[in-house]
Amino acid sequence: MSKELVTAIKNHRLIEVTEKLTMAIKDVVNECEIKEEELLKAISFLNEVGKKGEFHLLSDVLGVSVLVDNITYQDDADADTTLFNVEGPLYREEAPIQQSPGSLCELDEPGDVLFMQGKVISAATGNPIPNALLDVWQANAIGDYENEDENQTDYNLRARILADHNGYYEFRTVVPAGYDIGKGGPVGELMKAVGRHAMRPAHIHFKIEGESFKTLTTQLFPPNVPWLDSDAIGAVKEPLIMKLEKVTDPVECKKRGVTTPFYICQYDFRLKEKV
Ligand code: BEZ
Ligand code: FE
Repeated sequence: MSKELVTAIKNHRLIEVTEKLTMAIKDVVNECEIKEEELLKAISFLNEVGKKGEFHLLSDVLGVSVLVDNITYQDDADADTTLFNVEGPLYREEAPIQQSPGSLCELDEPGDVLFMQGKVISAATGNPIPNALLDVWQANAIGDYENEDENQTDYNLRARILADHNGYYEFRTVVPAGYDIGKGGPVGELMKAVGRHAMRPAHIHFKIEGESFKTLTTQLFPPNVPWLDSDAIGAVKEPLIMKLEKVTDPVECKKRGVTTPFYICQYDFRLKEKV
């Protein structure tokens, strides 16, 4: 395809989307009979959002990020694959690589200990994906990510876990808590003003790679946690809710090297083959 043709097609798309967006905005203005004073307030809100770098967050709370993710990756999902989910803005590259069994944190990390284990397999055949790499990141037990919290060490609760040749992975972590994505900025203020909260339910992020397979980016959610039914970005999908087993048997605790009851989550990830 010539360069000119590519540019013409791109412009065609831009023209189409801009026209539709203009129509949608005008419809709202007409329907709500927006007055000049309200328009000026909206403009100053958007200026503030820009100044604070919160346009991505605005897209998140409007539900646009999840919708676009669903449209973008719909072809990577079929009945047998693990559901994808948004990456979110808190991913960091180059987390330390650990051979499974690994740990996302030191042994004295505050919170309920959680062991995650399972297999990374082909959705089509059920065969294991040898040496799959699971890039995992999460907030701590009070809902803070290490890169936004001076009390945590660099890359705490982040690791790339290398599954074994049978696609088996295992790592130790703590059960994360939900957290506030508003944090006093203009988007958080908007949420408050319209009677919505800015909380995300607890979750663990995954980005999983296997040779000849499409990368799966997703999130898992502990069950029965606050805001599971009202995630501020609307990202909860039922099949991504974990089943946690609480283990209290002192013999099992000793085997796992923990001094308190702990949780186990068994979760297999099913990836789609590249064509
Ligand atoms: C997250 O999933 O970590 C996230 C998503 C949207 C805004 C902030 C954080
Ligand atoms: Fe997150």
